[in-house]
Amino acid sequence: MATKPEILISESVIHTRVRELAEQISKDYSGKDELVLLGVLKGSFIFLADLSRALTIPRTIEFIAVSSYEHGSVPSGAVRLVMDVRGSIEGRHVLIVEDIVDTGQTLHYLIDMLKSRNPASIRTCALLHKAHMTTAEVDIDYLGFSIGDEWVVGYGLDYMEQNRTLPYIGIVHPDDRN
Ligand code: IMP
Ligand code: MG
Repeated sequence: MATKPEILISESVIHTRVRELAEQISKDYSGKDELVLLGVLKGSFIFLADLSRALTIPRTIEFIAVSSYEHGSVPSGAVRLVMDVRGSIEGRHVLIVEDIVDTGQTLHYLIDMLKSRNPASIRTCALLHKAHMTTAEVDIDYLGFSIGDEWVVGYGLDYMEQNRTLPYIGIVHPDDRN
């Protein structure tokens, strides 16, 4: 049995930052009819739940599912669309909500694909960013935290489907990955 992941970002620090992000987003979109929060499954589900409830503007929730890591933490290369958005996003303000941006491939793919559907606007929000790892050119409009090159779990993020429901962001050490 692997040891419990070491705490990188505590529950209370996450909570405070999520409220700050929600305040900024609420301010930026005030006066708009509606903001579509587009959660990228599965990793964003807890972040999206907390962020969406802290907003003070009209918002609707949509989901999309992509897969870029077929086997644990070894990248497979291409991004694969697993589940598309149910409704049309044409003419609507869309905010993509991601758990973490690593190489940036996933976000790059999503922005490209969604732009072609003519939304009124498209922005990005990510809880975490591994700045050193990013190779694709992507803009994160709303960012929670920058972290180093480590595999993190909790608050929605997993390592081989484990530890998604940890209340904090923890580090999985290479020794614990099997
Ligand atoms: P990217 O396409 O390389 O930016 O990878 C982004 C996706 O990889 C994220 O949406 C996560 O699902 C996954 N990912 C990358 N790093 C981590 C991590 O440290 N923990 C958990 N998932 C991760
Ligand atoms: Mg993800």
